[in-house]
Amino acid sequence: MSQSKIPRTAVVPAAGLGTRFLPATKTVPKELLPVVDTPGIELVAEEAKSAGAERLLIITSPGKDGVVAHFVQDLVLEHTLAARGKESMLAKVRNAPSLLEVASVIQDQPLGLGHAVGCVETALGDDEDAIAVLLPDDLVLPGGVLSAMARTRAEYGGSVLCAIEVDDEKISAYGVFDVEDADPATPHVKRVKGMVEKPAADEAPSNLAAAGRYILDRKIFDALREITTGAGGELQLTDAIALLIEKGEPVHVVVHHGTRHDLGNPGGYLKAAVDFALDRDDYGPELRAWLRERLDQ
Ligand code: UTP
Repeated sequence: MSQSKIPRTAVVPAAGLGTRFLPATKTVPKELLPVVDTPGIELVAEEAKSAGAERLLIITSPGKDGVVAHFVQDLVLEHTLAARGKESMLAKVRNAPSLLEVASVIQDQPLGLGHAVGCVETALGDDEDAIAVLLPDDLVLPGGVLSAMARTRAEYGGSVLCAIEVDDEKISAYGVFDVEDADPATPHVKRVKGMVEKPAADEAPSNLAAAGRYILDRKIFDALREITTGAGGELQLTDAIALLIEKGEPVHVVVHHGTRHDLGNPGGYLKAAVDFALDRDDYGPELRAWLRERLDQ
């Protein structure tokens, strides 16, 4: 199997308002809320690096400077930790800045994910024919789906998205793919015929829902210029992808079999935190024992 890398630039949109997480997100960016002790955005940066990205391009908004600051070395803090012999803490604070080259663009107003992605075009090199986009409030586990998506782009060209299987009763919360088989030898790869945003359960074209991982051909920027404001008064990335499909551009999904955590709402975030903590040697055993006791009450 070829080792296709994802595009050089991994785009992480982090300019949203995070309204589902108010009041915390009044001052703390949603993307910096810790899953145990590590912000979601650092986890997705690690994922991008593992898949071969070279640059992290963060879309941020005025007032959310902390998101980019998380990836900048803090020499004073590092010096203090080193002087106090706190080696494991030092390794933790050095991790985010050491992962990838980091750049940022500002989205002045939260006009939607499509609008946010449109803001990165001028920050790309002329030779970059595609971008990877990772939503920092979606954790897709175990890793590896981005590499499978890169292989799919190498084979079919165009854009490649990530899908997860969702139960019928939950499907209406998602963007849902209308698909057909691409090649019987790779049943986890499907060709996308269309996408429906939040369909009623009996109208959903499949049980495959969009998860927050994309490899987008550079043609997405033309499509984003062509579409108009959609649901919620926002420029929807889904609408631009639908336009690419309409124009006959290849769009595929890789079906991910694994866990997906939605960090964008308190309920999903808590599940992720518990899931990650249970796997840790430092917090797992005590948390497990406490949970058992608590659930018996
Ligand atoms: P979400 O819709 O989950 O984030 O967008 P949100 O808008 O911040 O959250 P709510 O609905 O108000 O609670 C997915 C990702 O896209 C980014 C968000 O920061 C998040 O990481 N985003 C969204 C932008 O960068 N700009 C936007 O205009 C909208």
